[in-house]
Amino acid sequence: MNAPPPTVNEGGHFTKGRGGGCEGLTGASALCKTYCVTSPASDLAARDRRSSRSEVSLPPRNVTRCRKAIKEGAMACTAQSVKLNSGTAMPLLGLGTFKMHGYEVVYGALAAALEHGYRAVDTAAVYNNEADVARALRELLPRHGLTRADVFITSKLAPRDQGPGAAAAALQSLENLDPGGYLDLYLVHWPGTQGLPGEDPRNQELRRESWRLLEKLHGEGKLRAIGVSNYTVRHLEELLATCSIKPSVLQVEYHPHLVQKELLEYCQAHGIHMQAYSSLGMGHLLGEVTVQEVASRLGRTPAQVLLRWALERGVGVIPKSTGVERVASNAAVFDFKLTQEDMEKLDGMDKQLHYCWNPNTIA
Ligand SMILES: NC(=O)c1ccc[n+]([C@@H]2O[C@H](COP(=O)([O-])OP(=O)(O)OC[C@H]3O[C@@H](n4cnc5c(N)ncnc54)[C@H](OP(=O)(O)O)[C@@H]3O)[C@@H](O)[C@H]2O)c1
Repeated sequence: MNAPPPTVNEGGHFTKGRGGGCEGLTGASALCKTYCVTSPASDLAARDRRSSRSEVSLPPRNVTRCRKAIKEGAMACTAQSVKLNSGTAMPLLGLGTFKMHGYEVVYGALAAALEHGYRAVDTAAVYNNEADVARALRELLPRHGLTRADVFITSKLAPRDQGPGAAAAALQSLENLDPGGYLDLYLVHWPGTQGLPGEDPRNQELRRESWRLLEKLHGEGKLRAIGVSNYTVRHLEELLATCSIKPSVLQVEYHPHLVQKELLEYCQAHGIHMQAYSSLGMGHLLGEVTVQEVASRLGRTPAQVLLRWALERGVGVIPKSTGVERVASNAAVFDFKLTQEDMEKLDGMDKQLHYCWNPNTIA
């Protein structure tokens, strides 16, 4: 049963479909506790939340050790990356930022994410937070001993800009996120165009034009990889038949209520990396008996089980949270595995249910 056809998008311009643990510190934090006699990594994050560098009160030697520990902890996540067909490496874990609003909120989530090893951030023009993401990264990267090259930034073309406005929109996102630099990945957010009925054949022409313009920006090095989001097999077939540059990534809703086996197989057969969004089913899956049963047997959180379910298939994840402990626990998904039996049980929950938006209605 599918959600009603979307007339509006996730950034608030379209109506949605149906949708609208241990939480302990692991990874970098745990490592940091080993290294830092007096200064756990969380102190660094707390310090980061203060506005001025002059407020730093940690002994420099311990700060260095903490940074080392954070970097080592990060390795656990960043080592888990996928090589895209563009040749660049993309972390399998990133921080989602949909509905993250206000600089303080974005800053807090990104500080926790960098501390716990995330090295990718997913934003979009329609999230209206690109400038806050960029500002937070500018502040935070040096504090974590990182540079721009250490993080993978994704943004997306708003459905309102599909067609001739795509290049200007992409350049605006670039200006917001890394002026004079590059975006690691830029996605066509949605196969349709805002304001056009789903069945309107102009949707097809407009997304084809968008792609052509993005190919050009990719050629100029401004968009290191280009991809699509919310495309079905039909949309991908059409794109592959006409493109000069194949999409590197397909970002789609993917969780045990929406298994999308055929779509994943199509991507794998064509060298397109699939990345999951709404892995937690907008919260609907967290209370499911099967998920809870697997989680409690493994001593994991339901969220970790859902994220691991995607990772087991090589599908990247971009969980969003503004809670420091959730950001941390959502990253602790590389030190356990699900058995074949668990995978099958979770697959058995498939309802072909979109909680976000359903692209099947777009011509
Ligand atoms: N391409 C697209 O069309 C599209 C569509 C949707 C999303 N996305 C991207 O994918 C990202 C992730 O998707 P999403 O934000 O829809 O959903 P999600 O990451 O599956 O879930 C986010 C929700 O779950 C809560 N949450 C996070 N971790 C949790 C945990 N460990 N335990 C319990 N609750 C937890 C969050 O609340 P708190 O913040 O309060 O922790 C938030 O309400 C987005 O942020 C966005 O970057 C893309």
